[in-house]
Amino acid sequence: MAMLEAIRWGKDKVYILEQRLLPEKIEYLKCINYEEVALAIENLSIRGAPAIGIASAMAVVLACKNINALSGRELYEKLKPVFQRLLNTRPTAVNIKWAIERIETLIIKNINLSVNKLKNLIKNEAIKIHEEDRKTNKKIGQYALPLFKDGCTVMTYCNAGALATGGYGTATAPMYLAKEKGIKFRVIACETRPVLQGARITSFELMQAGIDVTLITDNTAGAVLKKGMVDFVIVGTDRTVKNGDVANKIGTYSLAVLCKENKVPFYVAAPISSIDLTIQTGDNIPIEQRNPDEVTTIKNIKIAPEGVKVINMAFDVTPAKYVTAIITEKGAFLPKDIKYIKNPDKIDKLRLKL
Ligand code: MRU
Repeated sequence: MAMLEAIRWGKDKVYILEQRLLPEKIEYLKCINYEEVALAIENLSIRGAPAIGIASAMAVVLACKNINALSGRELYEKLKPVFQRLLNTRPTAVNIKWAIERIETLIIKNINLSVNKLKNLIKNEAIKIHEEDRKTNKKIGQYALPLFKDGCTVMTYCNAGALATGGYGTATAPMYLAKEKGIKFRVIACETRPVLQGARITSFELMQAGIDVTLITDNTAGAVLKKGMVDFVIVGTDRTVKNGDVANKIGTYSLAVLCKENKVPFYVAAPISSIDLTIQTGDNIPIEQRNPDEVTTIKNIKIAPEGVKVINMAFDVTPAKYVTAIITEKGAFLPKDIKYIKNPDKIDKLRLKL
């Protein structure tokens, strides 16, 4: 299925789809240095956990271009502030840390290579991170596909779609696969205040793919669930931790509680790159606080009185008890079993049949 790409590696350049302009304009930013990529992540030109992990890896490649070093060790030292800059852009999605740690491990392992060879390895790793994400998306989609029965309605929140990843998206991957298989289904997308990723991005990318999508305001979700109009909900995640708690876009928690109340299954699509087993519970996930203007202004129009106090947490944490299953590229699991995700002997026996 032909679809827009959130990010593309060009010759010594990174092309980023400017998602702040969607759906009105399709424009790519051309980033020639790592700071431009860091700013694009910070200001949401590119967003979505896997996509910002990929962007960070590519930003490191751009940084390498402008670093003069006589040894691998010197290159590594000079990259450390770049890593820190990227890690500081958005703290909740663990994918940035995951991508940077992958590059750091590669550098340490090959520290005695010539600087040029090391720079080449870093570039290949960034490209690999992008390609792997595409494959991961498809595998998640295949594991989630059995949920899609002819005539079903699925609800999603925010954008865990193609434009948040390197491929078919995570929560949206089974939608694209179901569409390819000719399964008839309908998607309800929540608009996702404050910056409307559901309205501007999810409904846009699903419509482009010819998928039947209906947009609702976030506060309509409860009524729609109560009326029995939704068979299941599937969302993405920015960081899922050891006890199965899930951080995702602010409002996900409310939706999960509403699902429990209305007996609607609530699934989380989670690439392993977004699972952080170093954190025990959701209480310890760093939650990004964003500019109050995102709440008081829509498209430069003030919708609240000047100077009003604002809470603008970009993410919330859904406790594991509200999550029916977490669907990864290794299969679907109960949240309590996600702690075994990196233990192949154990995890293979815990896979759920959806
Ligand atoms: O602030 P955003 O747009 O980066 O938030 C995105 C989300 O919350 C997504 O659901 C999450 O990153 C998963 S993307 C596959």
